[in-house]
Amino acid sequence: MPGGSPPAGHPPYRRPTRARRTPPRRTPHTAFALLGLLALLHLPTLRHRGDQCGKTASIPRETIRESAGEIKRATTYAQRQFPGDQCPNLSFEVADARHLGFEARFDLVVSFNALHWVPQAADALRGIRRALKPEGLARLRLVTRAALTSLEEVAEEVRREPHWSGAFAGFKDPYLRLSAEEYAALAESLGLKRVSLSSESKRWDFQTEEAFFGFCNAGFGAWTHRLPEARRRAFVEESMRRYRAVIDGAFGERFVFHFMQTDVVLALTGGETSVD
Ligand SMILES: C[S@@+](CC[C@H](N)C(=O)[O-])C[C@H]1O[C@@H](n2cnc3c(N)ncnc32)[C@H](O)[C@@H]1O
Repeated sequence: MPGGSPPAGHPPYRRPTRARRTPPRRTPHTAFALLGLLALLHLPTLRHRGDQCGKTASIPRETIRESAGEIKRATTYAQRQFPGDQCPNLSFEVADARHLGFEARFDLVVSFNALHWVPQAADALRGIRRALKPEGLARLRLVTRAALTSLEEVAEEVRREPHWSGAFAGFKDPYLRLSAEEYAALAESLGLKRVSLSSESKRWDFQTEEAFFGFCNAGFGAWTHRLPEARRRAFVEESMRRYRAVIDGAFGERFVFHFMQTDVVLALTGGETSVD
């Protein structure tokens, strides 16, 4: 996670603002947004912040849990917000972050809360590096490992319990387990330059068990899709109980999701390092 439905009004998950119909005035950058399906709904926000039309927004085909219908709906929605006459250089593609096929095509790569669902971080970073033009930048926001046991670590613990493990034969942890520093160091080892790195500890207070269940239930799909429908609720509830013990012990809290939000800006080694 993050995923599912955080508390209303939380900035990264605001409902998309009404699409702006004014054509961009500046010459568009070519930008590649590695966003994940849900982020298509956030494209108006990205643009509002001054980003020009992107060349390609990539959403994953194989690893996603969204249905073909949801992908189609999100793509159609996004295309309506950015009609071809206003954004002639924008297209939407379904792709897997681990197998990007772009060569020196983009000035800017943006990823928003998706790369922590890609444990094969080196594959994703190599693809991003290849996709950048020589002066290009990658701005990546993702969740990184913190000192506090995370909700996703708890899910991994629970699925290893004897009463669950039978359903998880051959299962691989779907979550990235690197600290911010480790992620940036990995990027550097792959030929990217660290322009900036910052992390902030975040908490979302869902206040009620029901609301927190909704969030966990949506975010645990990578685990629960292994289970028959009838057992999914029990898996989520057991994980919630275990996580509650963690946050109760640390903060005296019950329905609060804690995570480390990291922003890293990367450039090609030898490329331009300005982030303005
Ligand atoms: C927590 S959601 C965030 C979605 C969106 N960026 C947002 O903030 O609303 C994580 C997204 O990562 C996507 N994802 C997971 N594995 C991926 C992969 N290998 N390649 C590309 N996207 C992936 C999922 O499909 C999902 O849409």
